[in-house]
Amino acid sequence: IRLFVSRDAGAVAVGADEVALALEQAAAKRGVAVEIVRTGSRGMYWLEPLVEVATPQGRIAFGPVTEADVPSLLDALASNTPHLLRLGATDEIPWLKRQTRLTFARCGVIDPRSLDDYRAHGGYKGLEHALSLGSDAILNEVTASGLRGRGGAGFPTGIKWKTVAQAKADRKFIVCNADEGDSGTFADRMIMEGDPFLVIEGMTIAGITVGATKGYIYIRSEYPHAVEAMNAAIAAAKRGGYLGDKIGGSTYGFDLEVRVGAGAYVCGEETSLLESLEGRRGLVRAKPPLPAHHGLFGKPTVINNVLSFAAIPFILAEGAKAYADFGMGRSRGTMPIQLAGNIRHGGLFETAFGVTLGELVDDVGGGTFTGRPVRAVQVGGPLGAYFPRALFDTPFDYEAFAARDGLIGHGGIVVFDDSVDMRRQARFAMEFCAIESCGKCTPCRIGSTRGVETIEKIINGERVSENLALVEDLCNTMKFGSLCALGGFTPYPVLSALKHFREDFVPAPTTLQAAE
Ligand code: NAI
Ligand code: SF4
Repeated sequence: IRLFVSRDAGAVAVGADEVALALEQAAAKRGVAVEIVRTGSRGMYWLEPLVEVATPQGRIAFGPVTEADVPSLLDALASNTPHLLRLGATDEIPWLKRQTRLTFARCGVIDPRSLDDYRAHGGYKGLEHALSLGSDAILNEVTASGLRGRGGAGFPTGIKWKTVAQAKADRKFIVCNADEGDSGTFADRMIMEGDPFLVIEGMTIAGITVGATKGYIYIRSEYPHAVEAMNAAIAAAKRGGYLGDKIGGSTYGFDLEVRVGAGAYVCGEETSLLESLEGRRGLVRAKPPLPAHHGLFGKPTVINNVLSFAAIPFILAEGAKAYADFGMGRSRGTMPIQLAGNIRHGGLFETAFGVTLGELVDDVGGGTFTGRPVRAVQVGGPLGAYFPRALFDTPFDYEAFAARDGLIGHGGIVVFDDSVDMRRQARFAMEFCAIESCGKCTPCRIGSTRGVETIEKIINGERVSENLALVEDLCNTMKFGSLCALGGFTPYPVLSALKHFREDFVPAPTTLQAAE
């Protein structure tokens, strides 16, 4: 019997290792030959640990499986009889079936430690095509695909790469930003753990396009499984001739190294990440100069998010049009959306841009885990705006979210039920900024601390309207006066809470007050 159990950190956290071991031991006891392949996760976290079995008709899924379920599961598999945890054919599970998995196509399917498995599932086709195209044609493909930076800012990837390609320098670098610090986001981690060769392939294509021979993957220290997966994949790619000199039998050379962060959220900001990579404290640099001109060690650098690099192999393998055919407006292709917080069906949902927030939260996510009404949804991490139900018709699209004073950021959606106190959430945004501020500029360093104090006064009922005006004023200063997105975007959650959930800040007058 061939079984598949995820080795993804999210699955391991709920017992996937124990289930895999129990399956192995129970099968050995029965004298049944089993092969257990440890894959990435399919992204249906409420069904983890998910166990899949290979059949001539495709994989059949069971979940969530505990160690206690293992004997009965093996019985059912041996006798081909139904089991309570049987979910049917994995590909037919509606949650998975309604997705458009271009980036996550292999995640949960292949063995992330096996270069052969990656190649057997279409891996390195993009690089092979890229090698036959050469720099200019690759740039045309990436630009025509409409791919925009998946870290949050949505800057066109083709233009960024072109800037670096045209820069004159003795050395250039490729840097992958895997410092995924946003609350409710885990797509970078999932793809690094579940399909690490994809990230390597995307970075290698970037290298040959812009003329860089060295790349770094900067991974947050909180992701030990991803660090292990990437290191194992880099070693395998080197052995297989896909990293080092003459990659894929070509004349190009490209090499990669993993670097681990030290726990600062602000190191997800590109210039601060570069400082950290160079061995210094993660202080934000003023822009310009842009990293594309003056990046790592002062050299022209392509710095992109994990998901941006991970989208590249598909674009090169299938063509820009195949990618650009999905999406809406200027948001082309697909977005790996992460559903988290108080949600029934949380996980990774990759779909074309254009799906509405309401569809994602109510239909896909199935509402709250607690069963209470959804009240607020924070989109785009701790610096993203809170959306009320009235804005659930907003399509997932960079411009549509910006038009409603929000951002899609890295695609994280955190759901709250009606027990949420939006004053506390507003205070949390300011406190988060105060803790994580790099300290370089005043609006962020001082403003966030004053913000916490002022919101606390509002919570305590002190001169509420006066302090509300003060918070709004402070938010404007932070928005326009901060050097980077940390100070500049902290006002988004605060102002959206004030705008859409005003009733939490200004309590309705009591009957007595109303009578006065
Ligand atoms: P930005 O708009 O300054 O730059 C976006 C990217 O485009 C950068 O890599 C920049 O170097 C590059 N760029 C800009 N103009 C260019 C040009 N002419 N040529 C070549 N490259 C150019 O945005 P920034 O400050 O890098 O990021 C802000 C965004 O980050 C926010 O929108 C927010 O959504 C997101 N964010 C993401 C977080 C995460 O954990 N993923 C956390 C915090 C914020
Ligand atoms: Fe540093 Fe905050 Fe200023 Fe960004 S906004 S440079 S994190 S002090």
